[in-house]
Amino acid sequence: MPTHYAIVPAAGSGSRFGAEMPKQYLPLLGQPLLYHTLAALCRCERIARVWVVLSPADEWWQTYDWSGLGAKLETLFCGGATRAQSVANGLVAAEIVADDEDWILVHDAARPCLAQAQLVDLCDALAGDPVGGLLAVPVADTLKRADAAQRVALTEARDGLWQAQTPQMFRYDVLRRALAVDAGGPNVSHTDEAGAVEAMGLKPKLVRADASNLKVTYPADLPLAEAILRGRGE
Ligand code: CTP
Ligand code: MG
Repeated sequence: MPTHYAIVPAAGSGSRFGAEMPKQYLPLLGQPLLYHTLAALCRCERIARVWVVLSPADEWWQTYDWSGLGAKLETLFCGGATRAQSVANGLVAAEIVADDEDWILVHDAARPCLAQAQLVDLCDALAGDPVGGLLAVPVADTLKRADAAQRVALTEARDGLWQAQTPQMFRYDVLRRALAVDAGGPNVSHTDEAGAVEAMGLKPKLVRADASNLKVTYPADLPLAEAILRGRGE
């Protein structure tokens, strides 16, 4: 049976959020936001180890107590200039323990509300899958394409459109090859792992999740994340 591992890229600066510290360290129910993200993965029995990929210049990690997360957690100070590079660097570090057939779940540090049921759903839905896949949500709103003057150029058909979330779960070997675009490193035009896997001609499976697994991007997202966690009694 393949082992499941998690990689959490957490080397971003949170420029769109615009806080004084990277958004992954912002306080959320008395812990840094990243604590909730890592806790969701560490407490899942399916996952054997959790690597968090931090910036080599990270000054915040050491100022918090992470011991409550247990022994599965391992820190890597090998974050890169892009998300894809941070994940690729994490995969290199994972090489010592991960076999080609093992599953790697890549999960954004900025998604603190991942529910156990969705995590288990993803693992179950993809067990035995030849490609792998990701949590995603069918688009609910009508989509407008803007012109340069921010007026509606056209209405896009939303049929068959999904919003990609994380975790995105692929075999170690597939992910390693998808992100190792020749010696030049990962192609930065891919904003998620699935995009890199698709570029290999493979078709990742969409596993239906819901909007509670939001990514904290802008300040208005933080109270939403707090409300979701509170609603679960956390
Ligand atoms: N990330 C990373 N390394 C980078 C850039 C991003 O590990 N060089 C991580 C972020 O820490 C985050 C995830 O990738 O957990 C998703 O990225 P995003 O939400 O875009 O976070 P930031 O890049 O930090 O935010 P922004 O784009 O607003 O600057
Ligand atoms: Mg970013």
